[in-house]
Amino acid sequence: MTGAPSPSPGAGPTSGHSAGYSPATVASTPDGRLFSRVVPRNGPPLLVALAPWLAGRVGTVLEIGCGTGQHAASFALGFPALDWWPSDPDPVHRQSAAAWAAEMRVPPRPPLSLDAADDWARDGAVVALGPLTAVISMNVIHIAPIAVATGIVAGAARTLSPGGLLIFYGPFNESGSHTGPGNAAFDAGLRADNPDWGLRDVDNIRALGAQAGLDLAALISMPADNRLLILRK
Ligand SMILES: C[S@@+](CC[C@H](N)C(=O)[O-])C[C@H]1O[C@@H](n2cnc3c(N)ncnc32)[C@H](O)[C@@H]1O
Repeated sequence: MTGAPSPSPGAGPTSGHSAGYSPATVASTPDGRLFSRVVPRNGPPLLVALAPWLAGRVGTVLEIGCGTGQHAASFALGFPALDWWPSDPDPVHRQSAAAWAAEMRVPPRPPLSLDAADDWARDGAVVALGPLTAVISMNVIHIAPIAVATGIVAGAARTLSPGGLLIFYGPFNESGSHTGPGNAAFDAGLRADNPDWGLRDVDNIRALGAQAGLDLAALISMPADNRLLILRK
């Protein structure tokens, strides 16, 4: 990320895997920005991979589980024709996303408080956005119960305009198997930390989408054995 003062070092993760960030576990700045170490690494290739799908579009994108908000701010700049709204259930994350937007001079879109396992599509703040061009969730559904994946699919089916995109990014299994030893170890660690967590299978997401009227339009291999899944309404 550019324009950032030197962050305080943070204490580093204390144990296992975490669905969240805080000033105690990652580097932060006094304005509330939190720093994920992996975002500067996975952001640029994501921007490139998303461009053919998003660059020609206008309208509103809702990001589910924005975390630090680093992606939201840089993608809002990368796709200026799109109105990029971050959301997260964690207020510390929402504060960080707002601070990143301010730091990077992104039009302010106050991060929404949404729990994807709830009926978020009926939330008044979401309804006020109108039909969505895209719903995107990166590195969320493997580090949350399956209800979060099903909730994202159901809510996207309800909120996307025709032709709108539901986009997932992160590690996935394919045809019931891990895609590599790194992901197998990661999955085992997630499940050891929380039996309700774990890598989701592309086939499972494809089936959930099909039931909801969202067809898998692309499955894109990304660095570090991650995948970009694009479903279209
Ligand atoms: C590993 S972080 C990923 C953050 C960011 N998307 C990224 O790629 O850097 C997982 C995020 O999912 C969020 N999350 C966890 N449970 C959630 C839920 N039920 N609904 C929405 N977001 C959730 C967490 O608060 C956290 O911000």
